[in-house]
Amino acid sequence: MEVRSVSPEFVGEVHGLNLTKPISDSNFADIDTAIAHFGVLVFPGQDLSDAQQIAFSQRFGEIENAHGGNPTQKKKRLNAQINDVSNLNTDGTPLARDDRRRAFNLGNHLWHTDSSFRAVPAKYSLLSARRIPATGGNTEFADMRAAYDALDPAMKSQIEPLICEHSLLHSRARLGFTKWTAEEIEMMKPVRQALVRQHPATGRKSIYISSHAGHVVGWTEAESKLFLSDLTEIATQRAFVYTHEWTVNDLVMWDNRCVLHRARSYEPGVVRDMRRTTIAGDEATVAQAA
Ligand SMILES: [Fe+2]
Repeated sequence: MEVRSVSPEFVGEVHGLNLTKPISDSNFADIDTAIAHFGVLVFPGQDLSDAQQIAFSQRFGEIENAHGGNPTQKKKRLNAQINDVSNLNTDGTPLARDDRRRAFNLGNHLWHTDSSFRAVPAKYSLLSARRIPATGGNTEFADMRAAYDALDPAMKSQIEPLICEHSLLHSRARLGFTKWTAEEIEMMKPVRQALVRQHPATGRKSIYISSHAGHVVGWTEAESKLFLSDLTEIATQRAFVYTHEWTVNDLVMWDNRCVLHRARSYEPGVVRDMRRTTIAGDEATVAQAA
C-alpha cells in the first residue's frame, strides 16, 4: 500500500490495495493514520459491490442508517446501509427534472458536511462512483482545518463559543424547497452543533459549518444568515478546495468532522449512480436542547 499526497496536508491517493477483499490490520492502521492527516483519501480502481463497500466501511465503525437522511424517498432503491446519492428512480432511470426527490437531492450541491443534522453527526463518508456522466458531476472538498488556521485571531475568538442549529429544513429552504408534510418536518427537527471542532486524533481545530446550519443560537435570523454565509465564503476559498473529477470505480473517503463537500452540476437526464456508506460519529459536539 502506498499513499501519494495530492497536496502535503490535504487529500491522499491510496494505491496497492484491493478493497474487494478483507484488508490486513496493518493496512487498516495505515489508512487510519492517512485519513487523520489528509482528511480526504482517494482509492482509484475499486470495483466494489454494495456488500464489499459495506464490509470495508465497517472497519471504521458503525454504519449510519441511510434511510433517515432523505424524507422524500419513501421507497428505497438500495438497502439501509447505503445512501443513494444517485439521480435515479427505483427502476434505475433518471428522475424527472421536476421530481420532488430530485429537488431534494440538489441540496447536495450546496457546501455541507454529511449528517450534521443528526444529534451525533457522522465521522466518515465513503462514496463510490458506479456510473458517472461524461462531463460534470465533480465533487469538491474544502479543508476546514486550513480554513480555520487562516482566520485572524479575533475571528477565531468570536466563533469559538458559537453554537449553530442544523436541519435539512435549512439546507433545502436555501433552494426554495419549503413544502413539507408534518411527518417530514418531524424527521428534520433541528439539532445543535459547535461551530469549532477539535480533531480527536490530530488536535487540529476546524470550522464546522454546513448548508444545514441555519441559525446561530442566540442571534437574530438576519445576523445569523449573513454571518454563516460570510463564513462559508471565507472557508471555501479556492486555496482550501480540492476538486475530484470522478472515474468509474473511484472510492473517495472523507472526514466529515473537518471537511466540507459539494456536488457540481451535470446534465439532468444523464445517469449518475454514486453510493455512500456513512460511518456514525462517536459523540455530540454540544449538549442537545431538550
Ligand atoms: Fe454529502
